Amino acid sequence: MITEKNNVFYLETQNTEYIFAVHPNGTLQNEYWGARIGVCGGFPGKPSGDRGSNDPVEDFYTEEYSAWGGARFKECALKVSFADGNRDLKLHFASFSLNGETLDVVLKDDFYALWVTLHYTVFPQNDVIRRSVTVKNETENSVTVERIASAVLHLPGKRPFHIHNVSGAWSGEQQPFSETLQSGSMIFESRKGSTAHGNSPYFIAEQGCTEFSGDAYFAALEYSGNFKVCASRGADHRTQVLLGINDFDFAYILDPHAALDAPPVFFGFTEQGFSGVSNTVNRFALDHIFPKAFAEKPLPVLYNSWEALEFSVNIENQTALVQNAADMGIELFVMDDGWFGARKNDRAGLGDWFVNREKFPDGLTPLIDCVNRAGMDFGLWVEPEMVNPDSDLYRAHPDWVYHFPNRENRLLRSQLVLNLTLDEVQDYLYDCLSALLRENNIRYIKWDMNRAYSEAGAPNLGDNQKAMWYLHNRALFALLERLRTEFPAVSFEACASGGGRIDYGALHAFDMYWPSDNTEAVDRIRIQNGYSRMYPTKAMRAWVTDIGWNALRVPLDFRFACAMRGALSVGGNIGKWSKEELDTAAQYIALYKSVRDVIQFGDFYRIADLDTDEGLNAVQYVSRDKTRSVAILLTPFTQFHLQKERLLSLRGLDDHKTYRFTWNGETLERTGAFLNHVPLAFETKRTFDSRIVVLEAVEQSS
Ligand code: DGJ
Repeated sequence: MITEKNNVFYLETQNTEYIFAVHPNGTLQNEYWGARIGVCGGFPGKPSGDRGSNDPVEDFYTEEYSAWGGARFKECALKVSFADGNRDLKLHFASFSLNGETLDVVLKDDFYALWVTLHYTVFPQNDVIRRSVTVKNETENSVTVERIASAVLHLPGKRPFHIHNVSGAWSGEQQPFSETLQSGSMIFESRKGSTAHGNSPYFIAEQGCTEFSGDAYFAALEYSGNFKVCASRGADHRTQVLLGINDFDFAYILDPHAALDAPPVFFGFTEQGFSGVSNTVNRFALDHIFPKAFAEKPLPVLYNSWEALEFSVNIENQTALVQNAADMGIELFVMDDGWFGARKNDRAGLGDWFVNREKFPDGLTPLIDCVNRAGMDFGLWVEPEMVNPDSDLYRAHPDWVYHFPNRENRLLRSQLVLNLTLDEVQDYLYDCLSALLRENNIRYIKWDMNRAYSEAGAPNLGDNQKAMWYLHNRALFALLERLRTEFPAVSFEACASGGGRIDYGALHAFDMYWPSDNTEAVDRIRIQNGYSRMYPTKAMRAWVTDIGWNALRVPLDFRFACAMRGALSVGGNIGKWSKEELDTAAQYIALYKSVRDVIQFGDFYRIADLDTDEGLNAVQYVSRDKTRSVAILLTPFTQFHLQKERLLSLRGLDDHKTYRFTWNGETLERTGAFLNHVPLAFETKRTFDSRIVVLEAVEQSS
């Protein structure tokens, strides 16, 4: 619900509230963010005067959207240059319009016809608010936007916050960390063109919450390109966080009467600690972000032969895997890299999206028919944004890649980045990909992207070249949108050398992410754990492969239990698996199918942590109606003195329901109240111990 009273705006969700107000001097300032307090008086708070000649009052404001101008020295959301050389922007409240759960607040520069509209939408049931910004140039000259954050958020009070993000790298994505921000700024960002593997475009802020209790504030940017999250604490000892397009090497020339939309940010507050954050974003993603076509459908169990065959795919070796895949219950059979152009390794072929006739003499149809006859859908890998210099495409159009004059392009993985801001590049990609989808019964695309952008020059953009980071991203998602509209039965997975494209911008066009090329089950525990903080379970593909942990053979049970914590998939060389291994796989896949609605759509709890729970890692999923639950326990290492001493507390069950489940080989019935409070005892007799516990509510006879 949104209420306006005397120029004070109250944005209420079921449990939270966000308040800002127009101050007597016309500035718009945040007044409150936290638990719901209703539409009360007391706002706006009184702005005080300058603290001295070095600390102007502006730096003590909590501006809802700050522009660089006047005596403002803290990080600002918007910075522009006018055509006459003026770089000073003075925004004041102009008007607002309120329509149900959406609110637009308009600010205007004091002199120039530059309008800034702040858009807000409240999602009461989700305890989430989304905001975005449009800047409109109504002057007769162009205006250069040098920075445009999507949101400024002010954390309450003056005590320092612990700010959380992830610090990752290829094969080690999503490793969580936090720092206490005492003074200065903390920046999480990408300058690589995509979100990349390092930081993630979000923050969580708290002052001592635990996994299950305590106040936590969070926000995520719904954008998939260069981003910047900047948390700062200055002389006022207040913490503010800006989220938006990275201003590094960025400028956007706004022509007269043109507008620029900054991507949305969604944000929220919870009193339930980190699990409250995870469940709020998990539910919000399911309800409002996932592409609609597949949002309510569970993801199928897929098989991908990349780790088994790498680039050497052909009609014989792919067909040879089909029956084993079908027998174990695979629903989607995916062929990865290597099927097109002159692709034998990563040095050639990218850009030539035509079937390699040496490998597939009769095209893809025979393989797809074979897969379909075995009862599975067929999926295909592509990497459309890239080109190898050794390709027909590059030979014909060397000027279709980003480049700077008088510079050699730096190759990474022997490839270059296509200039998607060129219409002809977009049309070429659309023509190739739509022909592939039209001519073949393809139901899934794994959309890869394997390098950071460098030499990011786009001569076609003239003076507006620094906008290429933003325009590339916009063109990419327009292309995806075009394909999704024409082929609504096709689902898309976002892959970027593993988890380089995990963000909420991508989740508008992709149905799932590939979180890491590291498919080793023990390493995956930490990657999945970090991922689960802010990203939805359903979107997380997880493969069972043959890779061992530090050369140790990890039991298949452990690998399956680990991969069942997301969208279960298989990526091992199933042509070489023994009969026993294939049977084991079939059992786990059948079990997964029987509980995947709980895993993919349920609430999620991290109930035991490797570091704090004696080497035990356990997660639990609970259906929204609380009638079903699944707990998955992994103990990669055990110590002799701990083996008989393990305890596990469950979470999130309905106190008043009774649940049936198997524990230590025995079928038990316990109330939710018991299970939520009394730890269950168990033993781990060996390294790589794994358990999957399914709990079902028992019908009560009244
Ligand atoms: C990187 C991806 O992350 C892998 O899964 C695989 O698709 C390779 N690219 C193929 O080149």
